[in-house]
Amino acid sequence: HMMREVSGINELETKLQRKLEIQKIIVVSGDSDESPWVKSELGRAAAEFMKSCLNRGNIIAVTGGSTMAAVANMLSPEFADYELQFVPARGGIGEDVKNQANTICATMADRTASKHRVLYVPDQVSDEMYRSIIKEPEINEVLSLIKSASIVLHGIGDAMTMAKRRKTSDQEIAFIQNGRAEGEAFGYYFNEAGEVVHKVQTIGLQLQDLSNIPNIISVAGGKSKAKAIAAYMNQAPKSTVLVTDEGAATELLKN
Ligand code: F6P
Repeated sequence: HMMREVSGINELETKLQRKLEIQKIIVVSGDSDESPWVKSELGRAAAEFMKSCLNRGNIIAVTGGSTMAAVANMLSPEFADYELQFVPARGGIGEDVKNQANTICATMADRTASKHRVLYVPDQVSDEMYRSIIKEPEINEVLSLIKSASIVLHGIGDAMTMAKRRKTSDQEIAFIQNGRAEGEAFGYYFNEAGEVVHKVQTIGLQLQDLSNIPNIISVAGGKSKAKAIAAYMNQAPKSTVLVTDEGAATELLKN
């Protein structure tokens, strides 16, 4: 029975790999839309994969969301030897405190006896504020750490779900809808073809920075995120490793 299950998952991974053409796909059993423990399994698989990429002194940039919170909960003191440093990838873009990158980085550091930095900046900033805020030495230092990260750990969300979860203005909702956005990651909204149709201006990692980061680990599952994952992956760096679940993987292969 076990063998059959494992080979079914392997087949999903292989098929998805062919479809998305990224470096690696890891699929966990179940659908995190339906069972909360599947999200924990996503976290466990992501933590395990991350361990295989680590070198001493690595900087790890992390986004927010409940999936990243699940990854944080799966980190353990065995990571302590690596002397890691966790940094939020972007300024808190409208999440609840427990799902903010700052909080998640603090938990990750706590659980692994590592260091972390915070990025206490407003959700969305004007051009003027952006230009002045990045000159602040404290902020500037965190920004350079983000750019020198060797690992990015990030979530992907359904575009409308994320737009609603953030306090997005009606005008911006219109951009997102008219642009037929499907997925969201790093504050960018992507249509089916992977084109950016809207962007939340905040401090931190920008999409173009990803090309300089050797290890990119995307973690997202649940049938409801299939289109979002497909949209994001249409433009993701080929070096990306996706950790997902059976629910999302099966749905992704239907389209
Ligand atoms: O807001 C941070 C973020 O990582 C988004 O970029 C992403 O869409 C979302 O969280 C994922 O959240 P969740 O894991 O709760 O679905």
